Amino acid sequence: DPVRFSGVWRFHELLPFCGQDEIVTVGEGQTLLQQTDSVGKFVGMNAGKLHLQYEGMNPSGSFKDNGMCAAFTHACMMNAKRAACASTGNTSASLALYCSATKKMKAVIFIGSGKISYGKLSQALDYGALTVQIAGDFDDAMIRVKQISDELGIYLVNSVNPFRLEGQKTIMFRIMEALRWEIPDWIVVPGGNLGNSSAFGKAFAELKQLGLIDRIPRLAVINARGADTLYELFERRGVRWNGGQVDMDPIRQYYDELDRTGAKADTIASAIEINRPVNLKKCLRALEGMDGVVRQVSDQEILDAKAQVGAGGFGCEPASAASVAGAKMLRREGVIAPSDRVVCVLTGHELKDPTATVAYHSADQEMFNKVLGSRGVKKASHANR
Ligand code: F0G
Repeated sequence: DPVRFSGVWRFHELLPFCGQDEIVTVGEGQTLLQQTDSVGKFVGMNAGKLHLQYEGMNPSGSFKDNGMCAAFTHACMMNAKRAACASTGNTSASLALYCSATKKMKAVIFIGSGKISYGKLSQALDYGALTVQIAGDFDDAMIRVKQISDELGIYLVNSVNPFRLEGQKTIMFRIMEALRWEIPDWIVVPGGNLGNSSAFGKAFAELKQLGLIDRIPRLAVINARGADTLYELFERRGVRWNGGQVDMDPIRQYYDELDRTGAKADTIASAIEINRPVNLKKCLRALEGMDGVVRQVSDQEILDAKAQVGAGGFGCEPASAASVAGAKMLRREGVIAPSDRVVCVLTGHELKDPTATVAYHSADQEMFNKVLGSRGVKKASHANR
């Protein structure tokens, strides 16, 4: 039964917006929780305490398939003929895969020019999606795709789509299963558009409501330093969910500042190179419900952590390693204790974005300079070779 095989749809009862016969699946969510002491040591944890939830094993190579199968199912229920997204590459790869695998609709994809890794772009192209590069970055592409899908009646699958978040809740359900329902102390996740963090908050709130857990883990959302809107608003300017009464003034003010200065997101972790996260408010809610914290990590910290993840097992793309770099920072600060049980979510596959990895390890100075030189990043030290 393909529905029971899906790591998302075997939790159908916990995302009950569709009938059993309406479900679309391509075998997503067969992912694994890996306990790793080598990465745990790097982070500063006691033995047996650090786990990596490896979402790179999904059909399109990232966690996005968890949410896409749900949004795609809903699009089919609505008889959509076309579905669109703006993307830094993984959402688009996932949408393109569901379209090509099911032949149920046509994918229309908007990406910022030069802002997507070749691994991800090649997926969209091979899967036959209509791929539109626009002048600008993800934030610009997001504005355009919203306008165009509104005007032309195209189904939008970005994580503004609430069904995406329903599917992404299951990442937490699988972690709980793998831990035999022993509740972890921390869930650590990279933050870009903030769909995951929002979905995780909802997942745990619902598990608690249902009486399946009696305690909720804490959440750490990790921004890349060059794309740190959540960090800036939550940690520096004190913006809170506040029971639903979010004070919008500091948020508007911050976005006005970005407009005025023309500041653009900039990080080697291109997947999370986003300044205007669409799920900001939902994420604030998750941070309240999970007693969360936000941190920002540098490109150097991301690449150093990434090399450790690779050496310790499966590898991941740069954005994913932000979770491990963030856990290390929180451990150093004493926010995370060495005896805490920590789960870092690795959101995307190693092969998604190899350019930075090769430059980081390369002896070829020219190659290094081209990709990383201007970022002030130092090469892999002997220790992380
Ligand atoms: N990690 C990876 C590998 C991603 O591709 C993304 C988002 C994130 C983390 C951030 O997750 O948005 O839930 O906070 N990628 C989107 C895309 C923006 O278009 O593929 P989030």
